[in-house]
Amino acid sequence: MIIREMKAEDYEEVYAMWQITTKRALSKADSKEGILKYLARNPGMSQVAVIDGKIVGTVLAGHDGRRGFIHHMAVMPRYRRHGIGHKLAQTAIDKIQADGIDKTHIFCYQNNETGQSFWKNFGLKRRDDVFVYSYETNPKE
Ligand SMILES: CC(C)(COP(=O)(O)OP(=O)(O)OC[C@H]1O[C@@H](n2cnc3c(N)ncnc32)[C@H](O)[C@@H]1OP(=O)(O)O)[C@@H](O)C(=O)NCCC(=O)NCCS
Repeated sequence: MIIREMKAEDYEEVYAMWQITTKRALSKADSKEGILKYLARNPGMSQVAVIDGKIVGTVLAGHDGRRGFIHHMAVMPRYRRHGIGHKLAQTAIDKIQADGIDKTHIFCYQNNETGQSFWKNFGLKRRDDVFVYSYETNPKE
């Protein structure tokens, strides 16, 4: 298994993987245009895990100059619980830290028990003192 930078040409394979692992979290921001823009804005930070030439895990990572953010932390079901998620997350956080950012945020649906367990196991403390407010340019009807 190798962890390497996610590249623009990975998009189709990664998006197909997200249809299996991350469907609920997908939005217009995950269009090819959106993801290519994200990768160009945060060069070298997003990662894929590859086994036998096949992408089996992803993490999108970036920062806004002040705080880091991680999205689409995902591993294909048959490869889970072998530490691939941890390696992807650690690589992403290391890349963000290397850019001088000390704090990285992760959003996780409250009813995503696997996600909650994963981040707790990874050593992160869940915050109960913050609400997330979201502004949308074109909210759905
Ligand atoms: C979360 C996810 C990326 C973890 O990937 P992974 O490669 O299995 O992670 P690791 O092997 O590094 O870590 C395993 C730990 O994650 C948690 N975990 C993984 N699968 C789990 C499951 N089915 N139920 C409960 N906890 C689970 C456990 O804490 C586990 O530790 P354990 O095996 O010692 O119990 C993967 O389960 C996944 O893709 N889930 C769907 C997408 C998702 O929910 N992403 C998180 C968004 S916040």
